[in-house]
Amino acid sequence: MKRRTFLKSAAAAGAAAMLPSSVLSLASGCTSENTPGWNFDEVLDRTGTWSIKYRRAEGGKLAMWIADMDFKTDPVVSQALRERLEKDVFGYTYGPDAFFEAIAGWEKAQHGFDVPIEWVEYAPGVIASLCQIYLTFTEPGDKVVVQTPVYDPFFDYARRLGRIAVENPLLWKDGRYEMDFEGLDRLYDKRVKVLVLCNPHNPVGIIWPEETLSRLARWCAEHDILVVSDEIHADLSLYGRQHIPFCSVDETAARIGIQLCSPTKAFNFPGITGSAYAIIPDPVKRRRFHETLDNAKLREASIPTLVATIAAYTHEPVWLEAVKRYIEGNIACVEDFFSRHACGIRPVRPEASFLIWLDCRALELPQAELMDLFNEKAGVVMNNGAGYGTGGEGFVRLNVGCPRSVVEEALRRIEAALQQ
Ligand SMILES: Cc1ncc(COP(=O)(O)O)c(C=O)c1O
Repeated sequence: MKRRTFLKSAAAAGAAAMLPSSVLSLASGCTSENTPGWNFDEVLDRTGTWSIKYRRAEGGKLAMWIADMDFKTDPVVSQALRERLEKDVFGYTYGPDAFFEAIAGWEKAQHGFDVPIEWVEYAPGVIASLCQIYLTFTEPGDKVVVQTPVYDPFFDYARRLGRIAVENPLLWKDGRYEMDFEGLDRLYDKRVKVLVLCNPHNPVGIIWPEETLSRLARWCAEHDILVVSDEIHADLSLYGRQHIPFCSVDETAARIGIQLCSPTKAFNFPGITGSAYAIIPDPVKRRRFHETLDNAKLREASIPTLVATIAAYTHEPVWLEAVKRYIEGNIACVEDFFSRHACGIRPVRPEASFLIWLDCRALELPQAELMDLFNEKAGVVMNNGAGYGTGGEGFVRLNVGCPRSVVEEALRRIEAALQQ
């Protein structure tokens, strides 16, 4: 089975046709405009919402770290939740067919991936599910490969669970990240049981090309390694790029892969925890995953998860297309700023999502001083690149899922701190 021809261009064209002209005309660069139905320029007051992000924004600092966006969610999600709340009934609830059908429909329309409903399992959050996969498919002392710099819970939880996390750092070639296949050959031994793929890759923002994914699938199949593909950022592909689900690449990938996906990043409801799903084409792996969750009593999705997921995945993605255009505008703003500055900081343009990987190596600062410059002197709280493993030193991760005015203020503060 070769990868199916994508329907995406048709889906995207359909979605674009539904966009208000004000959204379509939103130019990249430091301009923005309000749109009917939502206003990404609105600065939200998150006081009293128990926001984790804003716990680190004391004293007027700007919170531009953890990966949630400072936008209201898609109105269709809020409306569906409101209507469900109106029923005032919150008894024990099963996952209806509509949940699985919504996911299959979404995968087909957005990513051109024909997913039979029986391949889809509810998953109690991406990282919670990854932990259950570690517990099910590996033994203590087994090795899990991660390709750093990468979302740190991949290796952090492997270690907490007594597994050995082995790093295969990405290569930086001609201003682009690549996977290091020779590195994989070098690190391989019989204890390597799992490779965690980040697709698209947080924090470097890559949408992995099909050739890379199929080569990775071949290599892992040859070595009998399970690939867990974290696809939580998949619905936020930018600049018209096409995300490629790992298990859709070919038969080999489908046989050895487990995809962990979620609507929470794209539709900005990560506080509705436990909103995720797994796509597992191989029946044996699927049964093992299912049994593990069943035995740990982790297979019950909450009412908000079911309602929000179905709403997000069954409406035309008009809001989603608009938020992606807005994020592209924010990225352009950051790129424009650093292109005009002699400081040498270079943003790595993300192909997906709202996180910019800022290459600050030219500043030649020790990492602690770099973080002090941004977080304390500038008062712009970002993630420390070094926290993402080997290759992250000299970098910081900036979250631009926020109103344009906040991005502009952050850049002003960074400029002032750099001049000090
Ligand atoms: C790559 C990646 N995976 C997983 C998560 C978290 O997923 P969950 O909240 O479902 O555990 C994040 C959140 O930032 C992420 O960036």
